[in-house]
Amino acid sequence: MSVSIKSAKEIELMREAGRLLELVHEELAANIRPGISTWELDHLGEKKIRSFGCIPNFLHYNGYPASFCISVNDEVVHAIPNKKRILKEGDIVSIDAGLIYNGMHSDAARTYAVGKVTPEAQKLIDVTRQSFFEGIKYARAGNHLHDISNAIDAFIKPCGYGIVEELVGHGIGHVLHEDPQIPNFAQKRKGIRLMPGMTLAIEPMINMGRADVEWLDDDWTVVTEDGSLSAHYENTILITDGDPEILTLSH
Ligand code: MF3
Ligand code: CO
Repeated sequence: MSVSIKSAKEIELMREAGRLLELVHEELAANIRPGISTWELDHLGEKKIRSFGCIPNFLHYNGYPASFCISVNDEVVHAIPNKKRILKEGDIVSIDAGLIYNGMHSDAARTYAVGKVTPEAQKLIDVTRQSFFEGIKYARAGNHLHDISNAIDAFIKPCGYGIVEELVGHGIGHVLHEDPQIPNFAQKRKGIRLMPGMTLAIEPMINMGRADVEWLDDDWTVVTEDGSLSAHYENTILITDGDPEILTLSH
């Protein structure tokens, strides 16, 4: 395993890749409403990415056929946008997005409520988001990678939710998935020591019910085995000499 340390120049480019991705997420968030299809959201988002002169990094990644992963309700991640998949009041929808700016990648995901959702669904969304912030409290030079994993686990477990184990966060930079892998559940080993200049995509995927997931026949869509709702929250971050910098969340 080799974990890359980014130069000042690479960090500058990744900051911009992150800032632009945040604008893409804002555009998509503004368009979420009952009646819109996940295909329309993908189309809008791709237009936005290309308007910046950037490239959607998910498109054609291992043959992935769209620019975004848009996963509804019991879909955990990697659901392929579809004209027939129409959002309806009460759904929760996870949008995972990424782009390439001057050779550098960014990656971020958010789960949204469509119209009015149950308090239980809203709590799942909020707790999943908060688990990311609990994790990055430990994303500091000198700490170990799995301090992040352990903090996410310690925050989620008391809620009784299932933490997805088959999919993990990752390093990011010149490619979408770099070393190291970043689990969202408790680890026995400490993991690597964090150093300034590392760029990481931390992305808890949390199920309201059991942790188990399965893959649909399209070979992409991951769903909860028990049919329970699932939420996802991800940012690309930079390890610094001090507080971590969230590259895909500047305001
Ligand atoms: N953000 C996703 C991840 O880190 C990227 C999905 S790749 C795709 O796993 F091919 F599914 F789009
Ligand atoms: Co990711």
